[in-house]
Amino acid sequence: MKYHVLTLFPEMIEQGLNTSIIGRAIEKEIIELNTVDIRDYSVNKHKKVDDYPYGGGAGMVMQAEPVYRAYQSIAGTTQKDKKPRVVFLTPQGRVFNQSIAKELAAEEELIFLCGHYEGIDERVLEMIVTDNLSIGDYVLTGGELAAMVVIDAVSRLVPGVLNNDVSAEIESFHDNLLEYPQYTRPEEFEGRKVPEVLLSGHHQKIEQWRRMQSIQRTATRRPDLIKDASLTEKEKKELGLN
Ligand code: 6GU
Repeated sequence: MKYHVLTLFPEMIEQGLNTSIIGRAIEKEIIELNTVDIRDYSVNKHKKVDDYPYGGGAGMVMQAEPVYRAYQSIAGTTQKDKKPRVVFLTPQGRVFNQSIAKELAAEEELIFLCGHYEGIDERVLEMIVTDNLSIGDYVLTGGELAAMVVIDAVSRLVPGVLNNDVSAEIESFHDNLLEYPQYTRPEEFEGRKVPEVLLSGHHQKIEQWRRMQSIQRTATRRPDLIKDASLTEKEKKELGLN
């Protein structure tokens, strides 16, 4: 997977993604990260990239030309005869979720565009953007954190990024159920014991217990998810979900 990120803050993206699992994947060249500093494509001698909004109003607007030139600089380097999707991070976008992460993970190359100030001149957005994505209903100061969230969630679905042990685990949450609780040593902490069944060595019972914990947790913490989980009739009955 190759990511290009068009941004006014390339160091924020690079530093944010060079740690831990994603950092290791970049080191191993399983994923590639190319940041493009939009300011390098300013056509102004003071490297200005924003201006006042036509029609008036508060704040500044990122100009079309530096963004377009930054985009053109990578458009020539991408795979021939395949235009990569250009994802603009904006609170006006589709709300990002695991299913969109899966969809994006199937691409070979992705371009992210991060805005700042009050926005980007609409004309360049019309010309280059294929997907508008939001990471939730709140307002950030810029698209960089959102791009990093999307890149992290997509990257862990790219083969080889997680060790195989963990990747089997991926499938489970994807039944719209939250994870069951986890415990490690010691057996007792501040008077709180690890649930007996986990010490029993009885794998089938452990599996059943974890499944019920997942279902109960989802029902209480995320009732909006439970309708999309595939529960057996018995499980529904036990939860009084019928
Ligand atoms: Cl993608 N960008 C900004 N600036 N704010 C957001 C967002 C994105 N998603 C939620 N809030």
